[in-house]
Amino acid sequence: MAVCANSQDITGLEKIGPVVSFTKSVNAVTLNCADGSQVKLTMLAPDLIRVRASFAKSMSPHDHSWAIARDNWDTTQWTLTESPESISITTEEVEVVIHRSPLLISFRDARTREVINADERPMMYDAKGTLAGMMFDPNAGMFVAAAKKLGFDEHFYGLGEKAARLDKRRGSFVNWNSDTPGYTEGKDPIYQTIPFYLGLEHGSAYGIFFDNSYRSYFNFGSNSQERAWFGAEGGEMNYYFFYGPAIKKILSRYADLTGHMPLPPLWALGNQQSRWGYYPDTMVERVVSEYRQRDLPLDVVHLDIDYMNGYRVFTWNTQRFPRPKEMSEQLIKQGVKVITIVDPGVKYQPHPPVAREPASNSRNPELEPQDKSYYVFDQGLEKNYFQHRKDGKLFIPKVWPGESVFVDYTLPEARTWWGDLHRAYLDNGVAGIWNDMNEPSDFVDQTGKNQLDVISYDEGERSSHAKNRNVFALLMARATYEGLARLRPNLRPYVITRAAYAGIQRYSTMWTGDTNSTWDSLALNIPMFTTLGLSGEPFIGSDVGGFMGRGNGELLVRSYQVSFLAPFCRNHKVIDSYDQEPWRFGKYYEDIIRKYLKLRYRLLPFLYTTLEEAHRTGVPLFRPLVLNYQNDASTYNLDDEFMIGDDLLVAPVLRPDVTRRMVYLPEGKWYDYWTNKEYKGGSVVSVDAPLETVPMFVRGGSILPLGPEMNYVGEKIPEPSFVIYPDERGEAATSLYEDDGLTPEYANGVYRRTSLRFSGKQKQIQISISAPEGKFRPQPRTISFVISTTLSPGTVLLDRQPIPRAADGGTGWFKSGGNLVIRIPDDGRAHNIEIQ
Ligand code: GLC
Repeated sequence: MAVCANSQDITGLEKIGPVVSFTKSVNAVTLNCADGSQVKLTMLAPDLIRVRASFAKSMSPHDHSWAIARDNWDTTQWTLTESPESISITTEEVEVVIHRSPLLISFRDARTREVINADERPMMYDAKGTLAGMMFDPNAGMFVAAAKKLGFDEHFYGLGEKAARLDKRRGSFVNWNSDTPGYTEGKDPIYQTIPFYLGLEHGSAYGIFFDNSYRSYFNFGSNSQERAWFGAEGGEMNYYFFYGPAIKKILSRYADLTGHMPLPPLWALGNQQSRWGYYPDTMVERVVSEYRQRDLPLDVVHLDIDYMNGYRVFTWNTQRFPRPKEMSEQLIKQGVKVITIVDPGVKYQPHPPVAREPASNSRNPELEPQDKSYYVFDQGLEKNYFQHRKDGKLFIPKVWPGESVFVDYTLPEARTWWGDLHRAYLDNGVAGIWNDMNEPSDFVDQTGKNQLDVISYDEGERSSHAKNRNVFALLMARATYEGLARLRPNLRPYVITRAAYAGIQRYSTMWTGDTNSTWDSLALNIPMFTTLGLSGEPFIGSDVGGFMGRGNGELLVRSYQVSFLAPFCRNHKVIDSYDQEPWRFGKYYEDIIRKYLKLRYRLLPFLYTTLEEAHRTGVPLFRPLVLNYQNDASTYNLDDEFMIGDDLLVAPVLRPDVTRRMVYLPEGKWYDYWTNKEYKGGSVVSVDAPLETVPMFVRGGSILPLGPEMNYVGEKIPEPSFVIYPDERGEAATSLYEDDGLTPEYANGVYRRTSLRFSGKQKQIQISISAPEGKFRPQPRTISFVISTTLSPGTVLLDRQPIPRAADGGTGWFKSGGNLVIRIPDDGRAHNIEIQ
């Protein structure tokens, strides 16, 4: 492994000079330093301050980032006061104190004046090339860094995809998108770069987004107890400071800044199956029919690289898939959509001028033989969209097709061209796109060293790989997303990616790459999913069962017990390993997997409601407990349990042969999902967890909206049934979000939000349902309310009128097991139900 700056001492770097003067503009203050450096503090919002520094020179007017989604912020009120020692900028929420000499910035809570985060030393730069010998790319630029005081009890979260535990305190990390098959805990870097972290001390949180796409380093006190620092091998010191103190508020701001995740189609929450090696088409059909025959839910089947003609992207291997369109249509009839993998490597296929075939006029060149000329390579070459080395030669890495070329996605025209090429899939019935190998992976050399002299257009800057590697996947996903949106404006795009940079949530969902079929790899799922959620990526998942190596029935079941509530639930496997579809280990395991997949579909209304919350607010659905209970120190390191939204707590078993486990329940009342047994939170409980049962608890005070049991999205009318779990005061509330699940119309108000309140004091039980918000009208249906009680009501009143006992399946009330069920027609109006 290369020696890296991370293991080095940054204290020898040059410090930025003291402040000698400053200027003010409407929303910013620019500091001029004695050494010619400049620092600009921009007040974007009362809780969001940007810090940008240029060392030993004035600030470049060029200011561009692929991550940033928003630059039109309302004007924030702020005041400036100064003293001989310092300059203070105060917004409604944050006070930024700039100590002039040495230049030290600290952020305080504007109300309490308590320090939230403070420089441990002035910002630094490598003026003398001290770190040059240790840098991965000595020519990348100048190392820049910022150091912050490390709190004695400060916890760190975030940094996107890291093969690490939840709390990153005392850890050190590198960001350099890398293809790392079979990674295990501690492997770093892996596929993605999200240079955003949260610091939490005494229940109060802040966030820092170091928006620098160069190879970057984050050290949360791994070799010093005084400081946490971050730095990069080039580019600017450029970070955004977010103040909470609530983590949820920071995540919302981060989404405002880097983009909100658009809603994917609802079927993306359906179960998915994949396998490297699913060919020919009859094999794919067999897998799907196996699912149907076995009564296992399935919404999506993935086609890995085997569907292509010689691994040429945007083509079909017509021996293996002679009629892809018919195949997709057949599968759609069974409720199953096709997703195809698309890698960045375009087969390098030059041909001597004589051998060149006349340009094909076919409307479907993707179905033609590509041996003499490959239309994608030809077009890209002609338009000059491929990456070149500094010396002007085409950059020719090796990927699945052998020698290949990569597109320069920083070129807007190249992105449009790439996006439009997806017609080759949509015309053949494909419903979504899976971007892989986009670190970008190069078999010649996986570290990226072979690519260092590759130049990208980069808004005319013609910058080097050092700057562009980490944003390559972001821009490829963007081209893909925008292409799908252009080609099918009435349908929501669905893209999955392996590599990423901050901002990826605007274009793509993600999965955690090539994991192992091991218990250790499974245990990593939880901190990885929750960490991604705390880093602005809500739609996450991992290959269920693990990608590499041999699993077994027990591991597969436990793996489903983690992933059945992850947004992306896909069983996937490498080509040269053992089968692991749900039925491969026998009926005992298959039956348990079926139970969890069926439960996922029943929970879809709840999952979709929390997904919409993630879209709207940036707060993820798959949560570490610390996100919901950030004042509870018992949650700070807790990463073997997780929550979905605010209401469901899941504590899977992550070791073989274990049938009981300890579960931490935060304060409040909790219900065992399976037995309805009540627990008082604020303690650790020991619960049974046989293979059939994943310990699962519902928060008292919540109402879970459930849907019908289904084998695919759209199979049945989604009639909601609200299951009520009152808190200690006998109250509960929820809201249900619905829309058409397919089109972008939700953004125009075509959705429906129904709010519900329950109060059950003594014998007075009331349920009030609000008039739904939004323009979406579901199909005619009923809605039900489920209350756990052994009592039989005397009267049930709907808007003061008694309703009858229901005949089978009809409206009215009835007892079912230990529950009272009330079913009413859904007429889209407000209602009040009283039970006496
Ligand atoms: C990469 C992907 C994996 C895929 C394989 C073949 O390893 O991460 O999911 O199956 O490539 O395309």
